[in-house]
Amino acid sequence: MLDTTPLRSTVALVTGASSGIGQATARRLAAEGATVVLVARRQDRIDLLAKEIVEQGGDALALAADLTDAVAAAGVVAATVEQLGRLDTVVNAAGVMLLGDSAQAPLHEWQQMVDVNLKGLLHVTKAALPHLVDAATTSPRQVADVVNISSIAGRFAIPNAAVYNATKFGVTAATESWRQEFARRNVRFSVVEPGLVETELMSHQQAPVRERMEARFADVEQLRPDDIAEAVAYVVTSPRRRAVAEIVIRPTDQV
Ligand SMILES: NC(=O)c1ccc[n+]([C@@H]2O[C@H](COP(=O)([O-])OP(=O)(O)OC[C@H]3O[C@@H](n4cnc5c(N)ncnc54)[C@H](OP(=O)(O)O)[C@@H]3O)[C@@H](O)[C@H]2O)c1
Repeated sequence: MLDTTPLRSTVALVTGASSGIGQATARRLAAEGATVVLVARRQDRIDLLAKEIVEQGGDALALAADLTDAVAAAGVVAATVEQLGRLDTVVNAAGVMLLGDSAQAPLHEWQQMVDVNLKGLLHVTKAALPHLVDAATTSPRQVADVVNISSIAGRFAIPNAAVYNATKFGVTAATESWRQEFARRNVRFSVVEPGLVETELMSHQQAPVRERMEARFADVEQLRPDDIAEAVAYVVTSPRRRAVAEIVIRPTDQV
């Protein structure tokens, strides 16, 4: 018989869970049977999502943190293991995209992208690694997962996106290196690289940049966060023998 809750008895920590791709992924992994740990700065949003998941028969724990702070990031991993006893899956979805003319760009926007997209992901992954190795060794599934949400901007550089490109190329490169390093310890590392997804990501940009991008993609039917959540679910519910290293997903009409 088909197992409808393949992640039963596992714990999945999802960053960026207050919005967009992370939120949809948390819902999806809860539906697959995982106890989900919801991480983002906006406590009210993750509390609400935890309540919704529990009302639907799932298990969730909301832990607010600013992942640019290495101590806070390690703290959510430690609290997860302390309160739930294990950690099997990490989905690093927290991220920001601030595009525009490099000569005019405020330096703090560049720093924010490096701090969240790259350093935040490194902070969480570093703290999680020993627990993931342990889960892969001791759990009945004999496997653990890290899924990093990079971007098609992690494969192809475009103008006005140098630092976003740099962070996402960095995520893609680190993920592949970790994949090789941890393959024999049954910790799978995967990268999911979406094109345009309808989320709050675009809303954080300065108005002229946002308006230019909205005009450029006006006739594209954007992906939905659930489309990415489905890809993540495919990766982490795969049987132990099957490691999905990389998935690129674009809207059909995005060139
Ligand atoms: N949307 C797209 O078209 C697209 C395409 C390719 C790749 N991606 C990638 O997908 C990932 C998710 O983005 P999204 O589209 O879902 O955007 P989103 O709706 O804006 O979500 C971003 C998430 O990141 C969290 N976050 C931001 N800064 C944080 C910090 N300092 N500490 C902790 N959490 C932080 C936000 O939570 P709080 O504000 O509550 O902290 C939010 O939950 C990002 O890595 C993005 O680069 C998106």
